[in-house]
Amino acid sequence: MTTVVTENCKDCRFTDCVTVCPVEAFHQGDDMLYINPDVCIDCSACIPECPVEAIFEEDDLPDGMEDWVDINENMSQELPQITETLEPLETADEKREKLGL
Ligand code: F3S
Repeated sequence: MTTVVTENCKDCRFTDCVTVCPVEAFHQGDDMLYINPDVCIDCSACIPECPVEAIFEEDDLPDGMEDWVDINENMSQELPQITETLEPLETADEKREKLGL
């Protein structure tokens, strides 16, 4: 099993999740992050850190979000690792408001 970043991260990329990861499993895309399932140890430490509730255990993914498992696996292979917090994207507050979170 792994932990998965989903849609709510897109256009936010708050990166609060990154520094609590003990194994540096996060990878950085232009508009969101992804978790490498081969590295993730499923500790769940990142889940409560995300202000927009974007991270789930694979087994707890809401219906319709199953595709994010493969997306995280594929994108994390292509993109560079991220190990430090960044400024959120400029669109982050607007997206968060839209989400009502
Ligand atoms: Fe994205 Fe949430 Fe991390 S918005 S970068 S999953 S803290």
